[in-house]
Amino acid sequence: MNLYFLMTALFMGLALIGALDAALTSWNLLPWFNGLRWLRVHMITLGAMTEALFGVLPLLVAIRANLPRPGFRWATWFTLNTGILTLLVGIPLMNPALMITGGTLVFVATLLLINQLRQMHPAGAAAAPSAAKEPGGRWFYVAGLSYFLVGIIVGTGLWLGWSDILHIKTPVEVHIHANNWGLMSLVFAGLIIDTYPRFAGRSLAWPRSLRPIFWLMTLGALGLVLGPWLKSNYFAVPGLIMHLTATIWLLLNVIRPLLGDEAMWRKPGIWHLTTAYLWILAPVMVAPLIILGVPGFPGAGIEQNAPQALIYGWVLQFGFALLPYFFSRAFRPQVPAGLGGSWLSLAAVHLGGVALWASIFSEPYQGLLHGLAYALWAVAILPIAWQMWQLARAGLAQLADSPAAMPAD
Ligand code: HEM
Repeated sequence: MNLYFLMTALFMGLALIGALDAALTSWNLLPWFNGLRWLRVHMITLGAMTEALFGVLPLLVAIRANLPRPGFRWATWFTLNTGILTLLVGIPLMNPALMITGGTLVFVATLLLINQLRQMHPAGAAAAPSAAKEPGGRWFYVAGLSYFLVGIIVGTGLWLGWSDILHIKTPVEVHIHANNWGLMSLVFAGLIIDTYPRFAGRSLAWPRSLRPIFWLMTLGALGLVLGPWLKSNYFAVPGLIMHLTATIWLLLNVIRPLLGDEAMWRKPGIWHLTTAYLWILAPVMVAPLIILGVPGFPGAGIEQNAPQALIYGWVLQFGFALLPYFFSRAFRPQVPAGLGGSWLSLAAVHLGGVALWASIFSEPYQGLLHGLAYALWAVAILPIAWQMWQLARAGLAQLADSPAAMPAD
């Protein structure tokens, strides 16, 4: 498959949406809305991260399960991409038809991926009873993607009044929690489990802890979704404790075998991967102060800004380490792959998070610090984007040079 054809299909999807948009505007059905804020977060979460996850999860599960490399599933790719493109247009414009269409397409693509992963049972040696006792990434992927289904339904219906029908008390929080503590946390844990032996050259500290970690994280996420759904701390607080316990346990699994390995810590990749989790702790530490309504504490400012610090500081930074690693494995399979990132991106992404949190607490310098945070995050993205572009370019050049790239008529 020539990649130009791939892009043609992508832009055909865009052309379809463009035509729909023109029709709806002509019929005065399209209200105007400034949705840049939505686009910023979702270009990362839905755009970069979800695309990458759909690309790598079947491959990682196949490697782990001793199965042949799975074929590319066009139906899943097409459904996901037309869904994302429809949402990228529909949500900023607040167009109900486009929102429902886009949300449904992404939902269907996620169901297709879950179904594919569920069918990939371990074969041969990996199917031995001892191996079945240790959950691989597949458990985490299926559970995480199932939370994504909830996140999609709530996200799609946020501005369509679905929260009333579903009796959701604080819908934006339910959406964020299902996607962050459900989808991203679980899938990231699975990615660490499946890739660690390769990039670290050893196994995790306590492989038998993966089963309790899985259950703590999965049930913790349930509590964190039900908490804002019912506006009840009886679900949110135990959920948070379970989820944090699982996260810290997983990180200790990662860090302990590397203690004393100076060569590993002299590279920025492992720092990106581990310190990204600091940005989960920031909102967790201030949450009790918001819940208790401490006077003079900018609860509203935190609720408005904390999600972005979490996305840039944690989700995107986790991607800084792993996306170049996956690109390297895909485009340069002959060279051993390492985690991505640079010291500049490491410093800039963390300083950006500090600036954003400082902007919440410092009213006189709010605008300045807020702008500084985004400028620093842009600086952080630059070396990673460059690294990924270089890898993709080298891979595409090889593809173009291969005789198969230009089929005869
Ligand atoms: C089909 C998929 C999705 C849909 C339809 C969707 C929809 C929405 C909508 C309508 C909002 C409200 C924006 C606002 O109140 O200004 C929102 C906010 C948000 N969503 Fe999603 N979303 C989707 C996927 C995701 C994913 C995968 C993540 C990953 C973590 C995510 C994270 C967030 C965050 C953090 C916010 C809050 C943004 C802010 O406060 O600036 N969403 N989403």
